[in-house]
Amino acid sequence: MKITTLTNPRQTILLTCRWKGKDNVMTLDWHTPLSFEPMMYAVAIGKTRFSLDMVRHSKAFVVNFMSKDFEKKILYCGTHTGKNIDKFAETGLIKEQAKSVDCPRIKQALAWLECKVEKEIEVGDHWLFIATVSHAEIREKGKRLFHLHDDVFTTTVD
Ligand SMILES: Cc1cc2nc3c(=O)[nH]c(=O)nc-3n(C[C@H](O)[C@H](O)[C@H](O)COP(=O)(O)O)c2cc1C
Repeated sequence: MKITTLTNPRQTILLTCRWKGKDNVMTLDWHTPLSFEPMMYAVAIGKTRFSLDMVRHSKAFVVNFMSKDFEKKILYCGTHTGKNIDKFAETGLIKEQAKSVDCPRIKQALAWLECKVEKEIEVGDHWLFIATVSHAEIREKGKRLFHLHDDVFTTTVD
């Protein structure tokens, strides 16, 4: 049995990152708040992901909370690597400069957590990045996307 059979549904977000002039976006279910004060957050990035080295070297990422209306684009970003393509151009997701880190964030996101990596821990086939939230911002309310399995999602009531 896959662990996600027990742990889903989980809110699906988009993680954006930048390294050596390359911007990227990947889909991510494994993320969690860790501390109120200071505000801290963690994400788990698989060892095969192109984003892994980008976050490791830049020590920064943005968690973009997305509306369910972006389901198709989110699935695309979770099934295609950014190694040789520009996922922003492919999906029409618009990037803008984050406020507190040298990183892109997604203009259409409902909210953002801009994060500075403090610590990384190897956990099986993923790396866990523990970060301080340097800026948190809500743009608007909207229905979020929750992952059930494969390409099947659900959403919140409001
Ligand atoms: C709904 C969904 C959730 C995902 N959650 C994670 C996750 O939590 N961690 C992870 O490393 N990969 C996750 N993935 C897989 C990556 O998004 C996928 O491998 C992506 O192509 C990586 O992009 P990159 O190679 O450009 O970094 C998820 C994929 C989907 C579709």
